[in-house]
Amino acid sequence: MSDSDVVLRLQGVVKTFPGVRALDGVELEVRKGEVHCLLGQNGAGKSTLIKILAGVHHADEGSITWLDEPFAPGNPQAAMRAGIATIYQELDLVEDLSVAENAFLGHEESRGGFLKRRSTAARTREILTRLGHAEIPPRRMVRSLPAAGKQIVSMARALSHDAKLIVMDEPSAVLAHDEVENLFRIIRELTAQGIAVIYISHRMEEIRDIGDRVTVLKDGRTTAANLPARETPTRELVSRMTGRTIEYVFPPRVGRSDGEPLLRVEGLTRAGEFTDAALTVRAGEIVGIAGLVGSGRSELLETIFGARQADSGTVTVGGKPIRSIGAAVRAGMGMAPEERKSQALLLDEPIYRNMTLSSFPGYARVGFTDAGKERAAAERTADRLELRPRDVSRPVRTLSGGNQQKVVVGRWLLDRTRLLLLDEPTRGVDVGARAELYQVIHDLAAGGVGVLLVSSEVPEVLGLADRVLVMREGHLIHEAPADEIDEATVLDLVMAGSLLEGEPA
Ligand SMILES: Nc1ncnc2c1ncn2[C@@H]1O[C@H](COP(=O)(O)OP(=O)(O)OP(=O)(O)O)[C@@H](O)[C@H]1O
Ligand SMILES: [Mg+2]
Repeated sequence: MSDSDVVLRLQGVVKTFPGVRALDGVELEVRKGEVHCLLGQNGAGKSTLIKILAGVHHADEGSITWLDEPFAPGNPQAAMRAGIATIYQELDLVEDLSVAENAFLGHEESRGGFLKRRSTAARTREILTRLGHAEIPPRRMVRSLPAAGKQIVSMARALSHDAKLIVMDEPSAVLAHDEVENLFRIIRELTAQGIAVIYISHRMEEIRDIGDRVTVLKDGRTTAANLPARETPTRELVSRMTGRTIEYVFPPRVGRSDGEPLLRVEGLTRAGEFTDAALTVRAGEIVGIAGLVGSGRSELLETIFGARQADSGTVTVGGKPIRSIGAAVRAGMGMAPEERKSQALLLDEPIYRNMTLSSFPGYARVGFTDAGKERAAAERTADRLELRPRDVSRPVRTLSGGNQQKVVVGRWLLDRTRLLLLDEPTRGVDVGARAELYQVIHDLAAGGVGVLLVSSEVPEVLGLADRVLVMREGHLIHEAPADEIDEATVLDLVMAGSLLEGEPA
């Protein structure tokens, strides 16, 4: 491939935020029609890098060349006009505008009324068809679309601007298994048309599947550039990311199957979400629920936690009924929800405050919140989870995505939690910190905490849990000890429920 195929080149790019050198001399080279993967631990600088390309941040030093011209977009519109479109980790659509209005947002050509609207709708339909999603109505409000649909709209916006480079920051994090396959099909079609893609993900198997070349960042520097995505051994990628080698193993489990259930769920039903759910979790036991996004897993967890009202059925902890969050927390229940941004974090409050949020009654018992004690506890958790940067007085908003997730989970390490509900606890968390989180979850269980865990990643459920429940379309359809069921069987059940017939639930 000749040098003229290079569309984007970054050299020595530096970006500092107050107290943090997020990028410290990054090098990157992207070619026409390739999928270029960016790999790096949480906080390595991936999102910062792409926000510079998107015109959200401005580089302090270094040079960027885009289509043979120096490139320094003053704002997101300028980047878009230059042909670089970004699909963010947190999608940036306007919820109360229609699909078409979002797709053509930022086009300054919209003079006049109805005719224009009609042609915008028609052009949106064209683009959606090209993306294989002709079924999404252009006039539908974006708010009413599921996450995967919103991502398609983001992509439609990129195409409406005739983007030559599409940057995707952890696009698969909000997608179910089959939706990821659809995304990859779209990416292959785009690159076949010469469009370049920068793809960020923490999932190694995705990088193998969709990537052409990989660039690795560590602490804001490029530690390896242009590695072949399929041929480079995982061991090498990981050591470039972390500076050490991490064996991706689950700690051995001595599962507990004795003793009285701590959590008992019976006949729990919420119309349209899940039906007649029954399960138990013992003290010191890890129970995993495998299922697709949309199978009702998150709703079930939230109902058990008292955040949603059940239509019928009961939840008890240690024999006491739970019907509200207050009762759940008093009974020693904790929950790390899936949507960390909207449900879990106070973004403008410091890290230590967010980490101790749940434990307020405990810390406030002596009168006012004991700030010293609160901080000290948060410091210990931050050490344990390798939070970066380590300064717990920073606002959570300034943390990278994966580090925010650590704060959500870390919160429960402080508490006298007896029962922990975890919804996708490792989403967006890098391999190193992931191993750490697994260990933390195991330690909690070893200390007698009961854990109920939901994850779309089947190996994670199988590796962590003592007992596995499979959920499909609102029903718990299968239960087995983790060592008596394998990944293929779980996937079969999850996708098609093919073992359902004649199988005891
Ligand atoms: N607006 C900001 N203010 C201060 N610091 C910031 C800001 N945005 C990012 N940072 C810091 O810059 C560093 C790089 O963050 P970035 O979000 O680029 O990481 P990332 O590689 O995308 O990580 P992740 O995999 O967790 O998403 C981190 O230390 C982060 O805390
Ligand atoms: Mg990021």
